[in-house]
Amino acid sequence: THIITSPCIGTKDQACTEVCPVECIYDAGEMYLIHPDECIDCGACVPACPVSAIFPEEDVPAGEESFIARNYEFFGV
Ligand code: SF4
Ligand code: F3S
Repeated sequence: THIITSPCIGTKDQACTEVCPVECIYDAGEMYLIHPDECIDCGACVPACPVSAIFPEEDVPAGEESFIARNYEFFGV
């Protein structure tokens, strides 16, 4: 799956939701989050985000690891 990280908080640009072919990016309050069971890892959302908040799970930067669990837990996965 892909993971949305801290730059989304306070930004919520939503460009990612417009390019996702499976509509698996959901409003989670202060930020958007990606449903891990629905994401097909197409990568389209990564360049769409103006604040570079989205990464493949294996490439989440140091210090942003807590957002991996946050994406999973929001959807109960
Ligand atoms: Fe949607 Fe593709 Fe991004 Fe997954 S990687 S959230 S399927 S645009
Ligand atoms: Fe957030 Fe970037 Fe999408 S700011 S809503 S991850 S385009």
